[in-house]
Amino acid sequence: MANKVLVTGGNKGIGFEIARQLGALGWSVLLGARDETRGQNAVAKLKAEGVDAEWLKIDYNDVETIQTAAQAVADKHADLNVLINNAGIPGDMRKPGYEFELSELREVIDVNFYGNFAMIKAFYPILAKNSGRILNMTIPIGSNPHWHPFAYTTSKAALNVMIQSLAVSFEQGKIPVEMFGIMPGGVTTDLNGNSTGPHMKTVAEGGKVVVDLLLDGKNHQGQIIDQWGTPAEYGARN
Ligand SMILES: NC(=O)c1ccc[n+]([C@@H]2O[C@H](COP(=O)([O-])OP(=O)(O)OC[C@H]3O[C@@H](n4cnc5c(N)ncnc54)[C@H](OP(=O)(O)O)[C@@H]3O)[C@@H](O)[C@H]2O)c1
Repeated sequence: MANKVLVTGGNKGIGFEIARQLGALGWSVLLGARDETRGQNAVAKLKAEGVDAEWLKIDYNDVETIQTAAQAVADKHADLNVLINNAGIPGDMRKPGYEFELSELREVIDVNFYGNFAMIKAFYPILAKNSGRILNMTIPIGSNPHWHPFAYTTSKAALNVMIQSLAVSFEQGKIPVEMFGIMPGGVTTDLNGNSTGPHMKTVAEGGKVVVDLLLDGKNHQGQIIDQWGTPAEYGARN
């Protein structure tokens, strides 16, 4: 079966790069983006590179867009076999946790946890028909003096637990969906103010660690794979 992937938050950053690299390998791409102009511009760029791509409106803050997209995929793209839950926001990464307003914390959890869950809930029945896979983009959740972004880590901690719990439920329910996560390491994107440094990957390198994982031929049910470190360190491990 040909591969067809849905990448959310696909209009820029790591998501766009994953779509571009999988498209170059001949995968069909459904590119989820919340904004039509940004989504269509990204699709146009992919098409200019010869990629079979289509925009789907998917806004993690609007569950109706998720349900409408799932219906459209069930009708027109029932062969979807990979979902990459990539859309995400960090919240204020510098503010101490005790200074957060409840509303600010909720905003991040709404996207990184509830949005991810709404996607999984809407799309797993389609993916199950194709023994499909759901790969979630996540981060290490430990805190240290240099890195402890409050809303970002707490929301992704919940996501990590969800990945592991749902993987067990899919296994026990004999639902043929592989549920896993990847921590791609630091990648220079808008999310972190395009920060650079020896431990940061370019989007091309960040996208490649995701694509390499998808193509490694292994079953990663329930795993959250940490691809930290510099591109050279990553290369030495793989
Ligand atoms: N960059 C890193 O170092 C790093 C490391 C580990 C994990 N990750 C994870 O990788 C994923 C992609 O991050 P990135 O660095 O590529 O970030 P990015 O460049 O800021 O891109 C984020 C994408 O998510 C979309 N998005 C944000 N809120 C959304 C919503 N409510 N509904 C739908 N889409 C929404 C954005 O759309 P708009 O353009 O419309 O805002 C954009 O397409 C995130 O889940 C992030 O946590 C990133």
